[in-house]
Amino acid sequence: MLNLMPPETGHAAALWGLKHGFGPKTDNFNPPCLTQDIWGKSFKNPVAISAGFDKNAIAINGVLKLGVGFIEVGGVTPLAQVGNAKPRLFRLKSDRAAINRLGFNNQGADQVRQRIADYKSSEKNNLPIGINLAANSKSLNPENDFEVLVNKFAPLADFLTIDISCPNSENGLLFLSPGPLEKLLDLLTNIKKSEKYLKPPALLVKISPDIDYKHLDVLLHIIQAAGIDGITVCNTTTERPSALTSPNRNQLGGLSGKPLFSRSTDMLRHVYKVTEGSIPLIGVGGISNGADAYTKICAGASLVQLYTGLIYEGPGLIARIKNDLIKLMNEDGFSSLHDAIGSEYYKN
Ligand SMILES: Cc1cc2nc3c(=O)[nH]c(=O)nc-3n(C[C@H](O)[C@H](O)[C@H](O)COP(=O)(O)O)c2cc1C
Repeated sequence: MLNLMPPETGHAAALWGLKHGFGPKTDNFNPPCLTQDIWGKSFKNPVAISAGFDKNAIAINGVLKLGVGFIEVGGVTPLAQVGNAKPRLFRLKSDRAAINRLGFNNQGADQVRQRIADYKSSEKNNLPIGINLAANSKSLNPENDFEVLVNKFAPLADFLTIDISCPNSENGLLFLSPGPLEKLLDLLTNIKKSEKYLKPPALLVKISPDIDYKHLDVLLHIIQAAGIDGITVCNTTTERPSALTSPNRNQLGGLSGKPLFSRSTDMLRHVYKVTEGSIPLIGVGGISNGADAYTKICAGASLVQLYTGLIYEGPGLIARIKNDLIKLMNEDGFSSLHDAIGSEYYKN
């Protein structure tokens, strides 16, 4: 039914359904072998929906019921913005992919902050929550936008993701340059260290699949030197693999879903190797089943996220991935997730 609607309407309907309690309820299946502590927080399982799905934090309770181990809402900008002109979200059905150029449409930091405060006000809502942060597209001072956002969300969030890899917004890729990134991360890590935050959130950086590894290594050096707590690998790509067949394949924007899987997993492997497993990584890009999630974990991801897979496989996907992870870990003789993370690297 949702597949017959235009993609953005279908997405809004899915969020509405989750918000109002529709969808599978598989939140109580979290066997001990899938749990781990990261950044001083307990993660009941490693699977979540990635940024962009619930930009305004309106459906947190419905998303929780799908059985995720943590939440990431946003991308949120300091001020509300409408994003790019519609249509701006396209399905590439035969490729199991999507292209979006939404451009950070969101209701702004104050509204999102209030909803997260509401979520946090109940003690039973104890899953880690992250907020994906971005500068307003017309902002003349994007660095200051991130400063405002970190100050606003630090008291509430378990982790904050600095999105430096959005191809759809005027300021989206500014901090992929080494100089500006170094300055930005210095500023943000200093806010985090300030005494006003007793329990500061973890700071993560989300990187782009569209940079070469030489450039990536420079950025990784800066990220590590700044003391960043985690890296999300990765955002959508502006590349168009020649194997794409869908009529929408030449739409402008970021490509996600199956065609992103190998590119994003190779990058994850590289980041794990360069950082020597010292920083928790979130693996995202093209996951559509348990085997994909397991491959990312063995390549070095402590946590995994997905978005486009959910469009094609439906909301039961999260529960299926958890079941498959347990099976695959058993087959490889791993009794805990911790043993599987980066195992591919240690085997070689
Ligand atoms: C419609 C849409 C909106 C997105 N919005 C954001 C966003 O606001 N911030 C962000 O960091 N990533 C955003 N992403 C990227 C996803 O979080 C994810 O990194 C990417 O889609 C790859 O994962 P997937 O192949 O499982 O979809 C968006 C993706 C899609 C499809």
